[in-house]
Amino acid sequence: MPILEREPPKGRRESYVLPKVPVPPLKQTLDMYLSCMKHLVKEEQYQKTKAIVVKFGEPGGTGELLQKKLLERSDKTYNWVYDYWLEDMYLNQRLALPVNSNPAMVFPKQNFKDRKDSLRFAAHLITGVLEYKERIDTRVLPVDFARGQLAGTPLCMKQYYRLFNTYRLPGHKRDTLVIHKPGSTEQEHIIVACKNQFFVLDLVVNKKKLKEMDILTQLEKIVKMAENSEERQPPFGLLTSDGRTEWAQAREVLIKDSVNRESLAVIEKCLCVLCLDNPSGMEVGDTSRALLMLHGGGHEKMGANRWYDKPMQFIVGEDGVCGTVCEHSPFEGIVLVACTEYLMKFMTGSPSKMGRATSVSELPTPARLLWKTTPHIQDLLKASAERLQRLVRDLDMDVHKFEVYGKEFIKKQKMSPDAYIQVALQLAFYRCNGRLVSTYESASIRRFHEGRVDNIRSATSEALAFVKAMTDEKASLSDSEKMKQLWDAINAQTNYTITAITGLGIDNHLLGLREIAQELKMERPEIFTDETYVASNQFILSTSQVPTTVEMFCCYGPVVPNGYGCCYNPQSDHLLFSVTSFHGSTETCSAVFIKALDEGLVEMRDLCRKSNKPQSSAAPAASKAVVNNQGAGSKLPSTLQKTGK
Ligand code: COA
Repeated sequence: MPILEREPPKGRRESYVLPKVPVPPLKQTLDMYLSCMKHLVKEEQYQKTKAIVVKFGEPGGTGELLQKKLLERSDKTYNWVYDYWLEDMYLNQRLALPVNSNPAMVFPKQNFKDRKDSLRFAAHLITGVLEYKERIDTRVLPVDFARGQLAGTPLCMKQYYRLFNTYRLPGHKRDTLVIHKPGSTEQEHIIVACKNQFFVLDLVVNKKKLKEMDILTQLEKIVKMAENSEERQPPFGLLTSDGRTEWAQAREVLIKDSVNRESLAVIEKCLCVLCLDNPSGMEVGDTSRALLMLHGGGHEKMGANRWYDKPMQFIVGEDGVCGTVCEHSPFEGIVLVACTEYLMKFMTGSPSKMGRATSVSELPTPARLLWKTTPHIQDLLKASAERLQRLVRDLDMDVHKFEVYGKEFIKKQKMSPDAYIQVALQLAFYRCNGRLVSTYESASIRRFHEGRVDNIRSATSEALAFVKAMTDEKASLSDSEKMKQLWDAINAQTNYTITAITGLGIDNHLLGLREIAQELKMERPEIFTDETYVASNQFILSTSQVPTTVEMFCCYGPVVPNGYGCCYNPQSDHLLFSVTSFHGSTETCSAVFIKALDEGLVEMRDLCRKSNKPQSSAAPAASKAVVNNQGAGSKLPSTLQKTGK
């Protein structure tokens, strides 16, 4: 059994043995799959799917064979799903990283007096990064423990060890997550991006670590060098914003030249990228800051001042727009939050050790990375710039603070805030579209060794019954009936959450069965070519709770062209939502969705208030498969019609 080690600063040594992710029983997954999809597809299609699933699961059938192989794989590996999941979720995906894959964390807006002030902030931030990395390398990070549902169990810490030593290398069909040895001496530099130029900032000079003052000195030199237009290099970072296959093809062209090869090698081994942004010229609000983090505003703004393959990329804008944009494959948002909260606390809690003057020590001038271009490479850069611009124009983002109440009100109703918010999201979607769709909610499975996430399928039949009761005027249910439906929906959601976080979700299991069939070179079983399976993986609503304890928020893009990305951050007295969609879809509009969400949250509160006391069924029953019984329904109300498209 693998052992996770914790080395508390006092020298006491504790270790936690984390269990392996279980392989759920086949029948349980198949039943749950049918229950999850019954009310989301047409009856005729459902009957067809049911027959396929029954055949797949029958004694001696394909399902049993694949399940047996999966159990064998589980015996032989620490985590049977990890590689399948990583490839399916990230490495096989061909879409561009900005917006489609990389999440961003938006820091509080800073008020810099001038450029130098922003560089001081950046130097302090990098000092914090080095301190945090030291904690990772010396393994003194305290082990995380689960909070909320099933609180108290230790969580796998592996994701922390991939924050600064990984790189996503583009491939023609599949990317590779390159992992450098932690604490490797090759990795003693960061890359600083300024005016689309890339510079190497060595953090160890003559075997001595740079002090904050020295880092500032080097950053000042970099800014000056970036201004020298004669030495300016083409904006090569743009290539990393392109589709993964396009970038892999371009990279193949680049590496034919040794200058480019060397520049790429230095970037690929850095600890992190620091992007020193010029003022974007955009009005600074939550939404515009989030946009600048996700895509940099395109090549005309800061979109080329990035290297999207690098998992940790810090942005410090002269106009106070700061945050990080991350390549997602090595870690989840929760680990990112822990790291960035540490940095924010470091920034506010430990005074800058700079004094007034900058360092006087003799430091070598940071090197500017050089590139060899050809007319062909110029064309590739132009094509990448155009594609990034399209993505920028298409993203419809709305960051919204719902201030009527927060999670304390929900807890007082004896309801899980997360389940409540998920039901509210279903209500909003139904209001806008008159139906429910496959929904993804990330469920952490860090209780298990190398655990990442599984999916909570929030579009339950109970949620459908509730949203219908709330929107269908003809249903004219009494408030107590509606309240019962709300409780049913909350309990179904909470039960699913417990199922998923205990490793019994269906998405990872179905993926495992599908992939092991491929490994066995079997023809893809019909269950995985069926229309319902395809629909079940089109996450039109892609949601995730990313809570913070300091002022900052997370955001990401939709995962399908006609979908919404919805990241939420529940606070005691308010709820923060970052909603994204694409202007190109006539089915979505972030502002309309937010409006429906606002209305629904108020209606749900009113319903709770009208119901005098919480029902005794409040506490969710033990984890069980969700049972479904409803069909989809009504039209978009005129108040929520999408406009301006
Ligand atoms: N009555 C009163 N309080 C309740 C309650 C109830 N019935 N049910 C839950 N609560 C409380 C909890 O005790 C908890 O209290 P705390 O804030 O003091 O810790 C709080 O409400 C939140 O619990 P809940 O809303 O149920 O959610 P959770 O914290 O268990 O989170 C998930 C649920 C699914 C979000 C979580 O398990 C998870 O997996 N998070 C990771 C998501 C992720 O990976 N995001 C990043 C993706 S990149």
